[in-house]
Amino acid sequence: MTNHDFGARGIETTHEWVVERTGIHERRIAGDEVTTAMMAADAGRAAMAKAGVQAGELDAIVLSTATPDRLLPSTAVDVQAALGATRAAAFDLSAACSGWLYGLTVAEGLIATGASETVLVIGAEKMSAIIDWTDRATCVLFGDGAGAAVLKRHKPSVAAALRAPKGILSSFMRSDGTLAELLWRPGGGARVPFTDAVLAERSHFVKMAGREVFKHAVRSMSEAADRALDAARLTGTDIDLMIPHQANVRIIEATAKHANVSMDKVYVNVDRYGNTSSASIGIALDEAIESGRVKEGSTVLLVAFGAGLTWASMVVRF
Ligand code: ACO
Repeated sequence: MTNHDFGARGIETTHEWVVERTGIHERRIAGDEVTTAMMAADAGRAAMAKAGVQAGELDAIVLSTATPDRLLPSTAVDVQAALGATRAAAFDLSAACSGWLYGLTVAEGLIATGASETVLVIGAEKMSAIIDWTDRATCVLFGDGAGAAVLKRHKPSVAAALRAPKGILSSFMRSDGTLAELLWRPGGGARVPFTDAVLAERSHFVKMAGREVFKHAVRSMSEAADRALDAARLTGTDIDLMIPHQANVRIIEATAKHANVSMDKVYVNVDRYGNTSSASIGIALDEAIESGRVKEGSTVLLVAFGAGLTWASMVVRF
């Protein structure tokens, strides 16, 4: 769906307004028959094929989503069934756009404790289902999609690990629930169940205080970048590629500047997908690997913020 297509939906906006404020040119919108679980399973299959991992090897499936197909049970169990991952635990994780990095950190923990050897992490979002298509300030921002990665235990020799440490070098997660109402869906949960009033107020759709979120986004993404770099004892100039959450190109540019990473080392695809929430870094990482921008030995900074507010970061050497 391009910026020019909003007119047909009765939304007063222009391509120029959306591009100037966000950098977004188009986004993908899933068909009515496509569920979050279907997109998640597709991404999971693609990641497993690339990793050479069979469904029966998975010990856990961590699915980050702000758009579960239903609230009980999890969307992750539908993915587990669709993949035939008969040995896997499966659960949803809710951290909005930071969910991809929260998910990777949970998977790292499962592997570090010995509870799991192989974990599938998926970010999948059908944002089009929870957006208010009458609110031009939010509906132009989001898109649908899914990304996935397989994490596996790696046991290098001590000498190899000291010479060139690989894998997740550092990670950082944070939240501030006092800011929850800057970006939220007030209705539809256990606290404000579905009623005619909820539907009339459209409070089951995403509400956002855009300017406030923008301010906090730049601050929290900058902090997150600093924390992961410090913990990995690296600086921005050591980074081969930064892959930020793709919400808005202006937020991305401000974060890169703060982290001292030049824009030619920043992966940007928000122009083609819009904000796919917790799917965004997974999709971007896959594209970066496929296009050769992430190679064996590349040091990559991942950084995200989202509703909550939540924010997170990670340095990974491939
Ligand atoms: N087209 C045209 N005009 C618009 C549109 C639109 N789509 N949307 C809003 N406007 C108008 C407003 O009505 C307002 O008009 P007014 O001055 O006459 O009242 C004017 O544009 C300015 O509106 P602002 O909201 O102040 O515009 P701003 O420059 O702040 O840009 C934006 C809005 C793009 C939403 C920006 O605030 C932003 O990017 N914020 C961060 C949002 C974000 O990244 N959210 C994702 C969070 S991640 C997650 O967890 C989901």
